[in-house]
Amino acid sequence: MAKQPKYLSLNGKVVPYEDARIHILSPAAKYGAGVFEGIRGYWNDDQEEMYIFRLKEHLDRLQFSMKVQRIADCPSSELLTEKLIEVLHANKFRETVHIRMTVYVDGDGDQGALGPMGYAIAALPRPLPEAVRKGVTAQISSWTRIADNSVPARVKCNANYINGRLASMQAKADGYDASIILNSRGKVAEGPGMCFFMVRDGVPVTPSATNDILESVTRTTLIEIFEEYMGLKTVERDVDRTELYDAEEAFYCGTGWEITPILSVDRLPVGKGAVGPVTRKLQEHYFNIVLGKVKDHAAWRHPVFGKAKRARAAE
Ligand SMILES: Cc1ncc(COP(=O)(O)O)c(C=O)c1O
Repeated sequence: MAKQPKYLSLNGKVVPYEDARIHILSPAAKYGAGVFEGIRGYWNDDQEEMYIFRLKEHLDRLQFSMKVQRIADCPSSELLTEKLIEVLHANKFRETVHIRMTVYVDGDGDQGALGPMGYAIAALPRPLPEAVRKGVTAQISSWTRIADNSVPARVKCNANYINGRLASMQAKADGYDASIILNSRGKVAEGPGMCFFMVRDGVPVTPSATNDILESVTRTTLIEIFEEYMGLKTVERDVDRTELYDAEEAFYCGTGWEITPILSVDRLPVGKGAVGPVTRKLQEHYFNIVLGKVKDHAAWRHPVFGKAKRARAAE
């Protein structure tokens, strides 16, 4: 169980963690009628600063999700940013956190209810997962990825996540760490909560945006990092299942999964069955950037305690 913070933000107010509740008959609880973002706040100990990674891109995607879900009176990105910073300050975090920003349909409405809207922002301490260093085993799930014309994966809606949950539970029951889900055309889509990359013949490859994937912020970031720092151009295309058995390297990516190497698929080793050199190099560049260890891409990092730190220095 994740370490709980002291406070979270509910409908614009900082409240004790235990006091953030919704009604059991709300469309959010009944149907999963809500949208959300998972965002990281990376703590840099040397600079005594937390950097929120690509906040603008996450807020833009949240606005898109709210639009498609036709949520009434959507909170603005400016308001959500202000409330996020407020709750991070209230908790006085000095560690890396995973932020969950949710906009949901409250009240006791039916399935078609558009509002009233509620919103909550929580940040939970989350250190670097072991799996990022060591890698995981993966299974091709027997569940099919939700399709764009039924439950669109591009929209980060709470209810979507039952699909990934089924796949995750199957993987665990079958003795794997994680799963890879194929879409209705039988092509590789993504994992539950993360996108997929492989390196084949030295080239990074990832399923294209029309393969029933969430258009991941991390995926876009890695495509840029590959090109800028490693001179590798990513190919976005359909990916067949058997290509995974032939790849030199493979990894998951996402805000929560960061860059998690995949060591085997269906118990067939990926490459040498160990973390590959391309994945390791990519991780190095990625963590340098998200943690603010290098000056590059400063616009991707939203500092949280800048003012507080300056004030402390002046005391
Ligand atoms: C289904 C799914 N795919 C991919 C991702 C990765 O997206 P991002 O990099 O924006 O976190 C996520 C969320 O982390 C997700 O929930």
